[in-house]
Parts: sequence; C-alpha cells; structure tokens
Amino acid sequence: MINPSQCNHDDSMPGANPFAMQEEGTVVEISTMAENTYRLRVKAPGIAGKITPGQFFMIRPSEGYDPLLGRPLALFDVYEEDGRKVGFDFGIVVVGKLTSLMANWAAGTKVELWGPLGNGFPLPECKHLMMIAGGIGQTPFLAVSREALGLCSYGNGERNLKTKPEKMTLCYGARNKKYLAGLDLFKMDGLDVEVATDDGSEGHHGFVTGLLEKSIIKGNKPDVVYCCGPEPMMKAVAKICLDENIPCLLSLETTMACGFGACFSCVTKVKEDDGGWDYRRTCVEGPVFEAEKLIL
Ligand SMILES: Cc1cc2nc3c(=O)[nH]c(=O)nc-3n(C[C@H](O)[C@H](O)[C@H](O)COP(=O)(O)OP(=O)(O)OC[C@H]3O[C@@H](n4cnc5c(N)ncnc54)[C@H](O)[C@@H]3O)c2cc1C
Ligand code: FES
Repeated sequence: MINPSQCNHDDSMPGANPFAMQEEGTVVEISTMAENTYRLRVKAPGIAGKITPGQFFMIRPSEGYDPLLGRPLALFDVYEEDGRKVGFDFGIVVVGKLTSLMANWAAGTKVELWGPLGNGFPLPECKHLMMIAGGIGQTPFLAVSREALGLCSYGNGERNLKTKPEKMTLCYGARNKKYLAGLDLFKMDGLDVEVATDDGSEGHHGFVTGLLEKSIIKGNKPDVVYCCGPEPMMKAVAKICLDENIPCLLSLETTMACGFGACFSCVTKVKEDDGGWDYRRTCVEGPVFEAEKLIL
C-alpha cells in the first residue's frame, strides 16, 4: 500500500531540496505536441540524473533579465545518451511571458535551471493506481508510469518499487481533442489511457472526473489516486476520493517566485494535527500533498 508520508519532506527541513543544484542547460529541440503545447528537450546532465517523477525545476533564459524570475515546470521525462541520463523533456503550454518565449527557443539556446525541487510522487505501492490529469497537468504522469512499469529508473537509484501495481490507468482530460498532448508517448503495455474532453470531440464527453466516477460505479475503484491539473478539477477529484475513502495525492500548480522556500509566494493551507491549519510552501513541502490534509 502507498505510504502517504513518503510524499512529504521531513517537516524539520527548513529549506529547499538538499540535492538541488543550479545548472546551465542547452536546448536540444522543441516540437509541437498539441494546440499551444510543446515538448522542449534540454540537455543538463547534472540534474537529469537526480530528478524523480513529480519533482520540478525553476527555469529561465541564461541571457538577459526579462523575465527575471524563473518559472516552475515539472519533469516530463529524462533522456539518455550512451546509457547515461543527460537531459530531460518538459511539456509546456503557452500561457504568458516565459512560456511564449520558450515556444520559440531554438536549439543551442542556453537556459538557467535550478532543481530538482519539491518532493514529487512516492512510488505507488498499490494494486490499482489511477492518475488523473487535467490539461498540461499530465506532465508528471509520463515518468510516474514509466517508473511504475519498470521501463525507466529515476533519481540516484534509491527508489525501488517492491511490487508493480496490477492495474494502472491514466484519465486525461482536455478542453477538446486539439489540446490532447503526447498521447502516443503514453502508449505502454500495462497502462490504460482514458480520455475525456469538455466538448466530447474525443473520448468521454464531459469533465475528467466523470471517468473516475464511472470507474467507481463499474466496481473498478482505484486504491490510490494521483492527480494534477487546474485547481477546480483537483478540488472535485479530492472530494470524490474523500467521499469514497480513496487515498489521493494532489500535485499543486501554485504560482511561484523563488522555488526554494525563501519568498512564501507559493503557500497553501494545510490541516494540522491539533485541528487547526497552517501555511505550507508548495515549492518545499509540496508540490505533492495528501488531498485530505489540504484546505482547498
Ligand atoms: C510545480 C509546478 C509544476 C508545473 N509544471 C508545468 C508543466 O510541466 N508545464 C506547464 O506548461 N506548466 C507547468 N506549471 C505552470 C507554469 O509554471 C506556469 O504556466 C508558468 O509559470 C507561466 O509562466 P509565463 O511566464 O508563461 O506566464 P506569466 O506571464 O508569468 O503569467 C501569465 C498568466 O498565467 C498565470 N499563471 C502563472 N502561473 C500560473 C499557474 N501556476 N497556474 C495558473 N495560472 C498561472 C498568471 O497569473 C498570468 O495571468 C507548473 C507549475 C508548478 C507550480
Ligand atoms: S516559491 Fe518562494 S517560497 Fe515557494
């Protein structure tokens, strides 16, 4: 069974991930995955060998001061050369200043990276893992799936899954089929992919939460849910999971300024054992939290 405490750092840890480092990376290539959505490959051998699924980087251009602050992006996957992890892919959707620049970065562009940051998802020691993604919230689940299926190892070799989940499902929701990104990458033996679109142009017509509800009704209730996406969608998933008594981990996409625990721009409300609540920094104590502990 999943150990939810694995997903949070030791509370005594006051600052950023001790393994985090700064590295100058080089853009290798960028390709279109869907409407407004790109896959960006960056070579950065130092960080690539350390990062685990659900962790993230802060990234900004090496040259110039605009934007001054980096932006958080989750690991999509790592890639290897000569059997060694040398870099990683991001999945990005263009929303504002930096993501617009990134969509036009050419091969050879130098980028400043800080990572790996945050706690990431624990290994899924369970029978049926369901990953629920909304929009670009799908990015962490490529590496989660590949690791759980034994197709790739991440980090420094200390993560060893004792038993593979018997069943793994990715429920992936988007506005319409034009925004479904990288579905071919998720084609793996042992992973069922179910799609939902708001307008019914592909898969289930409606919100991605409908797929979870259907699964429960059919008697395929997952043991554990991992979820990432827009806040209202995560709130809805958390409510269903709490009602159904399903352990659920949410990866929050809070706006961040520093990424390493110094500015408190990323805080979220977390329930305390004494019945009260306190703020926790998503960049350090998260981005993955147990849904039942969050005040959403
Ligand atoms: C841990 C983590 C992992 C993430 N992983 C990914 C990823 O893999 N791929 C990806 O495309 N995005 C990811 N994001 C979101 C990404 O960081 C933002 O989209 C990005 O910072 C926007 O930068 P920008 O300069 O393009 O937009 P800005 O010019 O900074 O902002 C444009 C608009 O977007 C809003 N905005 C900025 N950040 C967010 C946010 N986090 N949520 C909602 N609205 C926001 C701003 O308020 C503003 O209205 C992640 C966020 C976090 C915290
Ligand atoms: S982003 Fe600065 S403390 Fe989290």
